[in-house]
Amino acid sequence: MRIKVNDLSFSYGQKTILNHLSFSINTGDFLTITGKNGSGKSTFIKCLLKLHKIPNGMIYMDDVDINEIKKYHNIGYVPQKAEFNYEFPITVKEILSTAYQQRTYDQFYKSIVSSLNLNKFYNENINNLSGGQLQRLFIARALLIKPRLLILDEPTVGIDQENVNNLYQILKQLKNEKITIILITHDQEFAKDLYDHLLHLDEDTNYTFTTIGDDKNV
Ligand SMILES: Nc1ncnc2c1ncn2[C@@H]1O[C@H](COP(=O)(O)OP(=O)(O)O)[C@@H](O)[C@H]1O
Ligand SMILES: [Mg+2]
Repeated sequence: MRIKVNDLSFSYGQKTILNHLSFSINTGDFLTITGKNGSGKSTFIKCLLKLHKIPNGMIYMDDVDINEIKKYHNIGYVPQKAEFNYEFPITVKEILSTAYQQRTYDQFYKSIVSSLNLNKFYNENINNLSGGQLQRLFIARALLIKPRLLILDEPTVGIDQENVNNLYQILKQLKNEKITIILITHDQEFAKDLYDHLLHLDEDTNYTFTTIGDDKNV
C-alpha cells in the first residue's frame, strides 16, 4: 500500500502536535517512526487510522483521500501497550478465531499462533495474560487479517528477547512479501536492517524524513 502525507497538521485544542508534515512511502516499504515521548508518533498513527478527523487532502492511501474511504480493509494495527484495556472475559482463542475470516484452523493460522508463542495460553482468559503476552496476542490478531499495511506502535516494549527475535523474523518475512510496515519504536537497534525510511518527530513539531540508502545514490 502506498501512503502519501501531504502537509498534515494536527492540534489538540491550542496545542499543535504535527505541523506541515509531508512525505510518502511505496508499497512494501518499511517506515520507522522515532521521537521522544509526546512528540506525536501515536497521534500521527491515529490520524492515519482516522481515529482523529483531519481535513480533506492530507493523507492518501493508494492515491485515495482517506476521508473518502468508508471502512478500512487489510490494515493491521497493534496499539501501544499502555492503551490496552481489555477487562472482559474472552480467551486468546476467541480473539484470534474471530479475527480470522477463514474460520478454519489451517496451516497459516497455526503458524501465526506458534510463531508468537501463544500455544501455551491459547485457552486462557486474556485477563490472566501479562502485558507482553497481550502484546503478542494483538500482533497475532493483526497478522491474521493478512494486512497490506501493518502498523505497530512500540511493539517491543515489555516483550522478552526471544519474542523480540521472533517478531523480527516475522517482520522480515512480511517485508519480503511486500507488506507495507510502519513501526514506531524507541529501540534504535530493533529491525534496523529492514528500514527503508526513518521519520523522526521532535517535541517542537519539527521533523526529519530520511530515506535509507539515498546517500549511496549521490
Ligand atoms: N487525546 C488527547 N488530547 C489531548 N492531548 C493529547 C491527546 N493524546 C495525546 N495528547 C498529547 O499530545 C502529545 C503527543 O502525544 P502522542 O502522539 O501520544 O506522543 P508519542 O506517541 O510520540 O509519545 C503529548 O503531549 C500528549 O500528551
Ligand atoms: Mg505513543
